[in-house]
Amino acid sequence: MHPHRRVVLTRRIGYEIQGISITHDLQVTIPAGEHDSVNRGAKRARASVWKGGWSVDPDSRLQGSKVHAKSYRCNLSPTLRRARDALPPPMNPIYLDYAATTPVRTEVRDAMAPYFDELFGNPSSTHRWGRQAAAALAEARDEVATVLGARFSEILFTRGGTESDNLGVCGRVGWHMSQGDRPTVAVSSVEHKAVLTAAKKATADGRGRCRVFDVRPDGSVDMDAIDAALDEGPTVISLMWVNNETGIVLPVPSVAERVRDAGGTMHTDAVQAAGKVPVRVDEVPVDLLSLAGHKIYGPKGTGALFVRRGLEVAPLLHGGGQERMLRPGTEDVAGAVGFATALRLVVEERAVEAARQGQLRDRLERTILESVPDIRINGGPACRAHHVCSVGISGVDGRSLLMSMDLEGVAASGGSACQSGSASGSHVVSALYGETDPRATIRFSLSRHTTEQDVVRGAEILARVVERLRGGAPV
Ligand SMILES: Cc1ncc(COP(=O)(O)O)c(C=O)c1O
Repeated sequence: MHPHRRVVLTRRIGYEIQGISITHDLQVTIPAGEHDSVNRGAKRARASVWKGGWSVDPDSRLQGSKVHAKSYRCNLSPTLRRARDALPPPMNPIYLDYAATTPVRTEVRDAMAPYFDELFGNPSSTHRWGRQAAAALAEARDEVATVLGARFSEILFTRGGTESDNLGVCGRVGWHMSQGDRPTVAVSSVEHKAVLTAAKKATADGRGRCRVFDVRPDGSVDMDAIDAALDEGPTVISLMWVNNETGIVLPVPSVAERVRDAGGTMHTDAVQAAGKVPVRVDEVPVDLLSLAGHKIYGPKGTGALFVRRGLEVAPLLHGGGQERMLRPGTEDVAGAVGFATALRLVVEERAVEAARQGQLRDRLERTILESVPDIRINGGPACRAHHVCSVGISGVDGRSLLMSMDLEGVAASGGSACQSGSASGSHVVSALYGETDPRATIRFSLSRHTTEQDVVRGAEILARVVERLRGGAPV
């Protein structure tokens, strides 16, 4: 044997630490001929695992060692995290986190392709290339306006949901301030952070007031608090149409009418509503409405803000005159075309997909309720969009739950997209059930790609993982 040729020997070792089992595939890489070091390596590995509890260090002496941690304690050490990340991907993984983001659909990619290539012009240019780009942008704007029941000039393209929410909320509050008023902005307790944080920031200097009104688990909102905020006037109310963490459909139409009658401004974050419930601004009197492309099989970093004609909004960015000077910067023509195509298609297939995914979601919830004791469907009593199932589970640690699901090949999240793979508590679940709610939250979300097999396997794996984490079954 060549003296420098390396030999890899693998040995599986099982450990039980603080009642939690891990199996460790020890791979020792040694120069040929030095057989003794195999045993030395194994001993070091065992000592390292026992001594440090979780501190197997694949980067040190045991180069090439792999840790299969079937269960984690709360705080993963960076070493174990690295080891986890080095694991081979599980067989047949299941993605059930479509409320976090969706893949771009083929039709969208095809519609966008020419604008990366021969039609690459800047829509502000007056030459042929610019005019072609401007025409495509106008067509995309027209398509979005038609789908929403809006006017052409009421659609602004943005860089996604966060930017639309910020421009809608802060832009309207900022405009009131520019008129010398002290506006109130009132937002629901279950808003995405893009609204909650924006509202707080917009009023942080004391030139405005920020109010947060409650939402109950049945999806009803505290109308008295909304009325009180409207009395303070001028007032901006922000209520999301579909909650991203629970799927709860909020009473945007009735609140919007109340706000209109009181002379306030109504913003709605419809990022999770588009393609899930009917969203028409000619039927519901909202003044501002936010959308994002990547939740509807469009590209990330694309979105739109509907601004009702005549409504004054102060820009957040300053520069050129694009997007009616409210969102300056060279337009992303490909992104606008992709976003418009995605929106049109998701709305076209909405009714069919709502029925299909609704059945899958019900099947998922039924199976979980039957197989996992002591759980709660968050927002269960409310009217909910078809794509989200949020489960509150007692007796398990949220982070361990998510990581175990991940290791078993199921992608879900703890709450919002920003919490995917993390179990930092969900502010939405806390708002609905109280800060001291002891349950861990796991959110499954479905899409046009989800199959019955996905939800059945997802539920089975959840049941197994929860049983294991509650200490009822060996790893
Ligand atoms: C309801 C809601 N609003 C806003 C956002 C932010 O959108 P984006 O990621 O496009 O900035 C999200 C994304 O998770 C969302 O679910």
